[in-house]
Amino acid sequence: MILGCSLGSAEWIRTDARRTAIGLDLDLESLEWCLENNLGKIGADGYSRMLLFHGNVLQPKEARLVKQRFNDLVQGLDVNSGNGFSESHSCEQSSLANSKCISNSTMSEAALPGRDIICAFNYSCCCLHSRKDLVLYFRHAFNALSKRGGIFVMDVYGGTSSERKLRLQRKFPSFTYFWEQEEFDIISRQTRISLHFQAGKKQMLRHAFTYHWRLWSIPEIKDCLEEAGFKSIHVWIREMPNTQSSGNAKEYNANRDVKYEESQRFNQGDAWNAYVVGVANI
Ligand SMILES: C[S@@+](CC[C@H](N)C(=O)[O-])C[C@H]1O[C@@H](n2cnc3c(N)ncnc32)[C@H](O)[C@@H]1O
Repeated sequence: MILGCSLGSAEWIRTDARRTAIGLDLDLESLEWCLENNLGKIGADGYSRMLLFHGNVLQPKEARLVKQRFNDLVQGLDVNSGNGFSESHSCEQSSLANSKCISNSTMSEAALPGRDIICAFNYSCCCLHSRKDLVLYFRHAFNALSKRGGIFVMDVYGGTSSERKLRLQRKFPSFTYFWEQEEFDIISRQTRISLHFQAGKKQMLRHAFTYHWRLWSIPEIKDCLEEAGFKSIHVWIREMPNTQSSGNAKEYNANRDVKYEESQRFNQGDAWNAYVVGVANI
């Protein structure tokens, strides 16, 4: 059960033929975009191993399978290629493929197996603004995980630069990407982030994405995970490039070698990024 899902699911499936992925998102347009644009990357076999549900992570059982417009999507694919269209179309192939045959079913009707990894990336948990909702989401994630060491992984960012207005720019050969923090309210810890893109000198795509986030602290996340049932929680963290630096791609790439380390303590700095991992052993 991934909160937001498309690229992550496709990449997970593409890199190992035994893997399956289940995505869940509130935004139907994003799910449909994923189905229509990732088929080429994962092939018909990969497609048979991915289920996308439209719904709310706070009520996951009611989420509905996004209608698989299979015939439309496979047009143009070589059905005799290694992508295995005919095999993947069979309902006997795997429990996931079986579930897919229940068209328009809800997540509870699909009776999915316990999941090995649930991830909520790109700061998706910050879309949940109240503690009650965060714990409820973690509880649903815990219940959906395999209790033989299934893990929940989420990312979060912070640092002094994250709690004020900020405009960051990163130049790539063919485009420039802007991260804009338009506000940060210290009472609610809510922030508004907009992403803009510029291709060439003139073409500016402003507010390509805008998010209203609550910037959770790591101890808040750990408390909520514990309350939801996770007994073992780990934090992997690294310092990010200084936000005062020029932000060109060369500088950013040089910084890519800084590794995430599992840490118990980490001194506040200008910017950091972390992965918080909850293990579902009972
Ligand atoms: C910042 S985006 C990240 C998307 C994706 N995880 C990724 O890595 O690209 C947050 C996503 O969470 C989805 N979302 C926010 N609140 C949700 C909720 N309550 N239930 C399901 N999806 C939600 C949004 O529709 C959006 O697609």
